Amino acid sequence: MKLDPNAVQKKLFPATTMPDPAWWHTLWPHPEGVIRALGIRPGMTVVDLCCGDGYFTAPLAALVEGKVYAVDLDSAMLERARAEVERIDASVKQWICVDARDLSRLVPEAVDFVLIANTFHGIPDKTAMARGVRAVLKPGGRFGIVNWHQLPREQTVILGQPRGPKTEMRMSPEQVQDVVESVGFELEQFVQFPPFHYGAVFRRKEEKDA
Ligand SMILES: C[S@@+](CC[C@H](N)C(=O)[O-])C[C@H]1O[C@@H](n2cnc3c(N)ncnc32)[C@H](O)[C@@H]1O
Repeated sequence: MKLDPNAVQKKLFPATTMPDPAWWHTLWPHPEGVIRALGIRPGMTVVDLCCGDGYFTAPLAALVEGKVYAVDLDSAMLERARAEVERIDASVKQWICVDARDLSRLVPEAVDFVLIANTFHGIPDKTAMARGVRAVLKPGGRFGIVNWHQLPREQTVILGQPRGPKTEMRMSPEQVQDVVESVGFELEQFVQFPPFHYGAVFRRKEEKDA
């Protein structure tokens, strides 16, 4: 069943529209390097949450040999992502067209890694989202968030224009850490993705770790 486009629009997180490919590709010339720097390795099963047009999904699918669940609420994005994955002759396990908030009901197995790139800033209830992510991870699984640095928007200029979410929506690494660690994760590493981004990788904590 296809969702009504207006209903989809209403459910999308604020300020999470897929950027124009011209400046996105200029900003992220090596998407596979980003995925590797976050600690994603062959053999892992990964959820690409809010995957958009597949800019990170395609190299991810190649790296983990298809063990990817690609999730987005916008079916047009999933179609573009599917075309990109096919273009590089890779595959994903499942395309899942749902609201990310329903993740834990819809991913059919526990996974090693959940990636959310360029979207966390817009999620209204970030704590609930992190809890939902925890529920789909295997014990000791990782949650990786790629975010814009907390710089004024007028300073994040790409191809001659300020880009990215409004200044007031941007989060520092420490703010992300506070949210995610409050629901049973511990920080594994921060990674820098110059010029304007960082990654934060968390490990799912178990009771025996306490
Ligand atoms: C800024 S794009 C980022 C795409 C990709 N992760 C990247 O970094 O290239 C954000 C994506 O999140 C999706 N999205 C927004 N709200 C969502 C929701 N509630 N559930 C699932 N996907 C959502 C949008 O459709 C869009 O494709």
